[in-house]
Amino acid sequence: MSRKILIAGNWKMNKTATEAVELAKPIIEAIGNQNDIDVLMCPPFTSISAVSELIGNSTVRVGAQNMSDKASGAYTGEISAAMLRDLQVSYVILGHSERRSYYGETDAFINRKVLACLENNLKPVLCVGETLEEREGDKTEAVLEKQIKGAFAGISADDFKKIVIAYEPVWAIGTGRTATPDMAEATHAFIRKVLAGLYGALAEETVIQYGGSMKPENSRELVAQPDIDGGLIGGAALKADSFHDLVKNAIG
Ligand code: 13P
Repeated sequence: MSRKILIAGNWKMNKTATEAVELAKPIIEAIGNQNDIDVLMCPPFTSISAVSELIGNSTVRVGAQNMSDKASGAYTGEISAAMLRDLQVSYVILGHSERRSYYGETDAFINRKVLACLENNLKPVLCVGETLEEREGDKTEAVLEKQIKGAFAGISADDFKKIVIAYEPVWAIGTGRTATPDMAEATHAFIRKVLAGLYGALAEETVIQYGGSMKPENSRELVAQPDIDGGLIGGAALKADSFHDLVKNAIG
């Protein structure tokens, strides 16, 4: 098994370009030479260029939080994969629960974005996760399986190798309520089983991040679980100290 831990900051709709530089600089200084772990920062579109310029020779990577499913043309307000690649973006978060619930993104739409992302040599970070109602109604596994199969329709085995999955239980996002390590591990193991059903042994190589109130205090015990390969971090990624401590603690 050769999975490398990936810790990513999803800054969501926070930080102007000026503030983004103030946040990214100390993070790059503190953990920009880390080779035993992958670190990713995903600022808003308007800050990507400024953050990319800071990266230099560091090992930190820059990601986007969304992108269009279209290549180019009359799609007012949209951002294409090629535009992101031109700014040294290497990963794109797709299917985040906030986009599914506030902007009506469906599995079929997310699938088109995953395909567009891969066509442009960008790595999708596909987010999946159940709501509290779905968990309490014992529907977690059915929901995750549907989201995964929907997003991966038509994805070849070669392309599947480039995909990262982020398991983000919706009830744990921004609530301070983290899934227990045991609960998260059980769900990650289930996700890997679904992936194995689709892509066989390649599922052992897939990085599956946990997201939902991960912080410096719990990153170690979560990442120590056998099927948890990192984190997608919201709130705790908005301060350099807490993101840096979370990364340091995660690798022990
Ligand atoms: P929080 O870490 O703020 O709970 O957000 C998680 C998340 O949604 C990352 O994509």
